[in-house]
Amino acid sequence: MIAKNPQRIGVLTSGGDAPGLNAVIRAVVKTAVNLGYEVLGIEDGFEGLIGETKYRVLTNNDVRGLLPAGGTILGTTNKGHFGGKRVIGSEDDPYLEAKANAERLGMRGLITIGGEGTQAIALEFAKLGMSIVGVPKTIDNDLPGTDRTFGFDTALLVATDAIDRLHTTAASHDRVMVLEVMGRHVGWIALHAGIAGGSDVILIPEIPFDSNIVAERILERERSGSAFSIVVVSEGAFPKGGQPLYANRGRLGGVGFMLTDQLAELTGKDCRCVVLGHLQRGGSPTPYDRLLSTRYGAAAVNAIHNGISGEMVALRAQEIVTVPLEEATGHIKTIRPHNDMIRTARGMGVSFGD
Ligand code: F6P
Repeated sequence: MIAKNPQRIGVLTSGGDAPGLNAVIRAVVKTAVNLGYEVLGIEDGFEGLIGETKYRVLTNNDVRGLLPAGGTILGTTNKGHFGGKRVIGSEDDPYLEAKANAERLGMRGLITIGGEGTQAIALEFAKLGMSIVGVPKTIDNDLPGTDRTFGFDTALLVATDAIDRLHTTAASHDRVMVLEVMGRHVGWIALHAGIAGGSDVILIPEIPFDSNIVAERILERERSGSAFSIVVVSEGAFPKGGQPLYANRGRLGGVGFMLTDQLAELTGKDCRCVVLGHLQRGGSPTPYDRLLSTRYGAAAVNAIHNGISGEMVALRAQEIVTVPLEEATGHIKTIRPHNDMIRTARGMGVSFGD
């Protein structure tokens, strides 16, 4: 039964977008409304809670048709007032302002959908006594505390599809195709898509590479009758003794083009580079991401309903649980160099350039 003066739950999306954000919002609204809450959609991330607050009431009507929709109907902010480290005691502390506004709006709890940066901000609010539950998002899958973030599976589909397409054109022209994928400082997308797409070389930030070794692998393939090769490189990968490249007006990336030039020189082959970029973040979520997002959204509402705070919903061994926000912040989840997928790929002749 709907209460006459329902309590309110806030929900916001923060940081870079990822496929599945709208599916989480939908699940939050449907589950919360069923429990008798009113849902406030906070706009543009935490920014919507300061200054002239930006929010709107979300009903079941507002989330109709949202499950397959990419992006976020609430908007998002990457940095903004909460970007840096909190200065406690400062005169215009945005955390205190946002907390006061959340209280004024009668929020029983706030659901923060985002990556590591978002959950670190959420943790600060939890320390101030605000009721907060996080939902783990990022195509990079680098959030600790959970086996999976939503958005990753969709990014994988896009990256794997790109590798499939590059295969046919590479084979037709006897070329080397280098595909640069996202992942910031982790190689989850490159590793998973590289294996799923049957790449010959996979380069990830966790294993610094040597271009000579990559070139040797390409020439070895040529000698054994395969005149083309596919190289997948994570945007954060870097050569041994080197650093990640920030070649795009100060932004992370550029390693793909750098490597392509080196491989052309070292192998004498025709080489091309494709940077997949934000195509990996846009568009409709896969069924896996829709399902995970829905489970996360519903679990976040149930957590608040049950008085849980300062936690993040997470996937552990196929089950949805909650973990302390501390576990999801402060570091990122990297690939262990002896991970079974790396061993599997190496055993099949894939080079990691080391
Ligand atoms: O964190 C997700 C991510 O897609 C990274 O892989 C990438 O480096 C970054 O976002 C780029 O984000 P933006 O262009 O929004 O700054």
